[in-house]
Amino acid sequence: MTIQVFENEEQVALAGAALIAAELLQDPYTVLGLPTGSTPIGIYRELIRMFENGVISFAEASAFNLDEYIGLEPDHEQSYSYFLHSNFIDHVNFRAENIRLVQGIAVNANEECEQYEQEITDAGGIDLQLLGIGRNGHIGFNEPAAWFEKTTHVVDLAADTIAANSRFFANEDEVPRQAISMGIGTIMDAEKIVLAATGSSKAEAIRAMCKGRIDPACQASILQIHPNVTILLDPAAAALI
Ligand code: PGA
Repeated sequence: MTIQVFENEEQVALAGAALIAAELLQDPYTVLGLPTGSTPIGIYRELIRMFENGVISFAEASAFNLDEYIGLEPDHEQSYSYFLHSNFIDHVNFRAENIRLVQGIAVNANEECEQYEQEITDAGGIDLQLLGIGRNGHIGFNEPAAWFEKTTHVVDLAADTIAANSRFFANEDEVPRQAISMGIGTIMDAEKIVLAATGSSKAEAIRAMCKGRIDPACQASILQIHPNVTILLDPAAAALI
């Protein structure tokens, strides 16, 4: 685990974008794993800028996303599909056929999970998985639990996650209670992982992830045994390590 602490959120965003750009320059056919949340917005903004400046291209790259709420149409403003399209995908030159976003309104969610997992395998696996982290140490929607889920699966959201995400909805009752998430095994199979976190609300999760025991109570702690993880932090998120 390589931990890098930057002066501020903007520097974290630049560093995250630089790592993804380096991957794309080295391999235009890179398979990216994309997260949602406020943390990656700056990284996506920098990637769009690099694309507009002709530094990088996504023409041959492909992308999967980390998770999606169950029950929201892809064009619902709070769906993760809508988020990724409006904050990133629609501003660069991915080919539509190279984008596979998990469907939260699949008729059979369990079948969608199996199919999604298979498509990741068929694409040769994720080359670079970008991650945020929840205040409770979740990655994707892998919530604190007694075990680590291996593959893409249906999740009941933790109360803390529903509370944290309610800021995007009219009220907490509107936050979906279930989601589909890549499993910890899916994430750990990625060749490289880049996790970004900023702000003091993430400090305890970062401590548990980096310094705690590997424990499914902090799902991100499993990253300690991944061979290629880079953690990008601002001073507030790094305060307890
Ligand atoms: P955030 O979410 O980037 O909006 O803080 C991260 C997460 O919950 O994984």
